[in-house]
Amino acid sequence: MTYLSGDGVELIVGDCREVLKTLHSESFQFIFTDPPYRIKNWEGFGRKANRTYGTKPPEYHEWLSECYRVLKSDGSINVCESTINIKDLWLALEKAGFQVQPPLAWFVSFRASHPRRGWLNSHWEPVMWGTKTEKWYFDSKPLAGKGSSMGGDVYVHPSINYNAIVPGQKPIGLSERQIRIHTKEGDKVLDPFAGSSTTLKAARKWGRYATGIEINPEIARKGFDLRAFNVRASTQTEIHEDELEKELGDGKVNGDKIH
Ligand SMILES: C[S@@+](CC[C@H](N)C(=O)[O-])C[C@H]1O[C@@H](n2cnc3c(N)ncnc32)[C@H](O)[C@@H]1O
Repeated sequence: MTYLSGDGVELIVGDCREVLKTLHSESFQFIFTDPPYRIKNWEGFGRKANRTYGTKPPEYHEWLSECYRVLKSDGSINVCESTINIKDLWLALEKAGFQVQPPLAWFVSFRASHPRRGWLNSHWEPVMWGTKTEKWYFDSKPLAGKGSSMGGDVYVHPSINYNAIVPGQKPIGLSERQIRIHTKEGDKVLDPFAGSSTTLKAARKWGRYATGIEINPEIARKGFDLRAFNVRASTQTEIHEDELEKELGDGKVNGDKIH
């Protein structure tokens, strides 16, 4: 298995449907993830992003139940999606075993896009929230001192329109406060659709351990820039360049287990 790693952070290059099976049960406190949005006509609307990812969006059931397994009993999961899929994702979370808690909204204060014909231009996206049990870890200190809207369930951030490594790249502020609310320093955070490693960067910034999975080796490498992590990128850095180069060459990712 190819992986990129630094101090307290690792990015596994592979298909999360396979890689998740290799991770230990109950080993992560929080999962923040942002899978390719399930646009109904995969070849149509959203095709630019899907072409870039080079893969059809996995079905929820193919990865959500593994997320449930690897989460600690007082852990939470946040999943970003498009508004049109709220119902499907809500049901899929429940089917995987999660208790669905009130969703958050990302208010997209600026987005360089045109509305789809017949639809209003989208200015918010849901972030669905599931807990493994009825007792979940929640630290309200990161909310202190915020006004009612900023301290609540609406996050206001512009989308990443320019210099994005991957279509749909999320503003780091979105995962940052969620990580602080749902974990303690030293806890482990997972993102099975890591893209440009935004979640991993947010986790390391706040002293959490971070594991990501990304299927596209090129995106993985571009995003995994150790200068962007709040870590000592020194001798502890271990990047398996040879293997990655090989995979970039033939576009394949090998699937051996590492755990
Ligand atoms: C919307 S992007 C994530 C963006 C990320 N939140 C960020 O801020 O950079 C979705 C990512 O999931 C990856 N992906 C798609 N299918 C996957 C799979 N089966 N396993 C792992 N990653 C996958 C895509 O290559 C893409 O980088």
